[in-house]
Amino acid sequence: MNIGDIRSEYTQSGLNRNDLCEEPLEQFKLWFAQAQQAKLKEVNAMSVATVRKDGMPQVRTVLLKMFDEKGFVFFSNYNSAKAQELSSTPKASILFPWLDLERQVRISGNVEKVTQAESRKYFRSRPVGSQLGAWVSNQSQVITDRKVLSAAMQELQDRFKGDEIPLPENWGGYRIVAEFYEFWQGRANRLHDRFRYTRHSGGWHVNRLAP
Ligand SMILES: Cc1cc2nc3c(=O)[nH]c(=O)nc-3n(C[C@H](O)[C@H](O)[C@H](O)COP(=O)(O)O)c2cc1C
Repeated sequence: MNIGDIRSEYTQSGLNRNDLCEEPLEQFKLWFAQAQQAKLKEVNAMSVATVRKDGMPQVRTVLLKMFDEKGFVFFSNYNSAKAQELSSTPKASILFPWLDLERQVRISGNVEKVTQAESRKYFRSRPVGSQLGAWVSNQSQVITDRKVLSAAMQELQDRFKGDEIPLPENWGGYRIVAEFYEFWQGRANRLHDRFRYTRHSGGWHVNRLAP
């Protein structure tokens, strides 16, 4: 099988300027709700791209855990590779690949840490195993084998037995404050619909882009 021969036509839908919400957040809400209705797997999974100090881009999947007019929030380890990248360049681009709907949404902007209170609130809502996992994993560090993780998990289970598990200092949320959105809907013959929102004198400017 030649992978060059893998292709499909995108014919499910179209996107017109008149159908778009004036606020990109409203458009995102609408598409997110439709992605949920379509029961897409891991509908809140998004790729997040950051930049290393030497200019090398890095991308990985994370889960979107909140979004509102303040921005788009995911949680992670504050000592991870992405955390180091965000501390030297506090900017990110996120991408939702809703391919079963022949859609993608791209958003980018400056990144800030959420408050400790916000991180604590979300941390508390996680299953205990995930709370312990946040303590156990020195995310992005080299480890010799899996036993390192199971030993640390056992030790922490003993330490916190029955107690409330505190928020680790090195764990919390990042908020991407959106400056740019792009909504993409696949169309026939690769003549897809793309609309870009950029900030413009307190509001948003919308442009259709060539596919
Ligand atoms: C579906 C999926 C969801 C993920 N969600 C998160 C997440 O919410 N936070 C996180 O730190 N890593 C998450 N990961 C793991 C990241 O992709 C990545 O491996 C990890 O954050 C380390 O990245 P870094 O070394 O670039 O910092 C997820 C991975 C997948 C495949």
